[in-house]
Amino acid sequence: MKTLILNGSPRAGGDTAALLKAFTSALAGEYMLKNCFGADISPCTDCRACRVSQSCALHDDMQEIYRCLAECDNVVIASPVHYGELSSSLLSAAGRFQLYSSAMIFRHEKPNVTAKRGAVILAQGGSGGAERAYETAVLIFRSIGITEVMPMVCSGNTDRLPAAEDKAALSAAVSLAARLNG
Ligand SMILES: Cc1cc2nc3c(=O)[nH]c(=O)nc-3n(C[C@H](O)[C@H](O)[C@H](O)COP(=O)(O)O)c2cc1C
Repeated sequence: MKTLILNGSPRAGGDTAALLKAFTSALAGEYMLKNCFGADISPCTDCRACRVSQSCALHDDMQEIYRCLAECDNVVIASPVHYGELSSSLLSAAGRFQLYSSAMIFRHEKPNVTAKRGAVILAQGGSGGAERAYETAVLIFRSIGITEVMPMVCSGNTDRLPAAEDKAALSAAVSLAARLNG
């Protein structure tokens, strides 16, 4: 089993990282963890080259994500909640999935994505809901043909209880891995 994990947190040892540590410690098979923040990933410029070509015109770190999506079983979107949404670096990377939308809509081809299951791991301070971020993640998954999305794992009050100490969220992250393993 192969899992692609897209992490949108800017904090290397932050709350999302704590949840991912618990998750990956219980996850079977191989995984590729891509930290979107600081990666060489340009936003989609809507150049529309992918409406006629099978590849993205931008050559940066997204190429390794595209390669991983062509052979993995699961995709995990992990992010802090920023203004009720997924982080900007996560959204910026996900915008490059336009390649797959173009495959379906304009080139009438199946997107080159093997993954069947999606999962969402979120951390938020506690000043708002994470539902919008989860819904956005579901939309992103749909845009690459993934319709089976697990319920979200969220540490929802990190201003008062850091995710690394949030036993319920850490345990939910481990259970999520077990579910994917099964
Ligand atoms: C720019 C910014 C916007 C944020 N917006 C929200 C928000 O809308 N709701 C919320 O509950 N927490 C919000 N937070 C708090 C983060 O979600 C919280 O600190 C999170 O645990 C950070 O995760 P990380 O350590 O993985 O980056 C925001 C933090 C930042 C820096």
